[in-house]
Amino acid sequence: MPRNRARQRSKAIFSNLQNISSASHPQHGEADSQSLITIHQQAIMAAEDTQKLPRMKKFRFQLLDQWLVNRFYPCRTADIGGGKGLISFLLAQHGWPVTVIDPVVQDLPPKYKDIQNGRRIKISPENRVEYIQAKFEVEHAANFELLIGMHAHGCNAKIIDAAERFGCAFVIFPCCVIDEPFYPRLGVHWLESLADYAIRKGLSIDCFRLNFKGQNIGLFYSGRLKKIS
Ligand SMILES: C[S@@+](CC[C@H](N)C(=O)[O-])C[C@H]1O[C@@H](n2cnc3c(N)ncnc32)[C@H](O)[C@@H]1O
Repeated sequence: MPRNRARQRSKAIFSNLQNISSASHPQHGEADSQSLITIHQQAIMAAEDTQKLPRMKKFRFQLLDQWLVNRFYPCRTADIGGGKGLISFLLAQHGWPVTVIDPVVQDLPPKYKDIQNGRRIKISPENRVEYIQAKFEVEHAANFELLIGMHAHGCNAKIIDAAERFGCAFVIFPCCVIDEPFYPRLGVHWLESLADYAIRKGLSIDCFRLNFKGQNIGLFYSGRLKKIS
């Protein structure tokens, strides 16, 4: 899809999601999804996706880490489909107890960029994150307060099921629909379909966008997370 058309499409989906999610909060209307936090003059959160807004390319883990640690106190977190585990590593650096749940165990990347100061940080091969080597099942969520699904393959509907069952919060950036238990209706985007699925289960959700390239729209259910005031 040409870049302009992709942005327009993404904007339309985001706007639909805002309508869907604000209807799930009848008492307080829009959430704080419009507020912008910036690092080095670049927005972490992109309320509007315009061509003027420079995107941080590939720093999705760093951006999500900042989004979480600036808003919430540390809580028991599962990084579902976490892959190399960089989001878990970054949250652990901020004192969050995090466990990756993924059937494929991978080493942490050897380095990453600290977006606060632009420095490249090496990760020593001795560094490890907690891992549960398994396909994610709803029962795993019993021990966690927050479930993260960053492009977590085939896990999005299960994450929502788990939030309903155990009351945990979630933040998901769904990408493809493959291996999920249902497909969106014709003409409905996968994100809209998931938002609707969560709301039908009685979960009030918000949508937000982080400033990275790729599928950067997140769905968030706050559960019992303690907000930093
Ligand atoms: C597209 S990668 C995303 C990895 C990482 N979160 C990221 O954003 O780079 C999808 C990940 O989901 C994992 N995965 C696939 N099926 C899964 C399942 N049933 N339960 C948990 N993780 C799964 C894969 O092993 C892979 O690490």
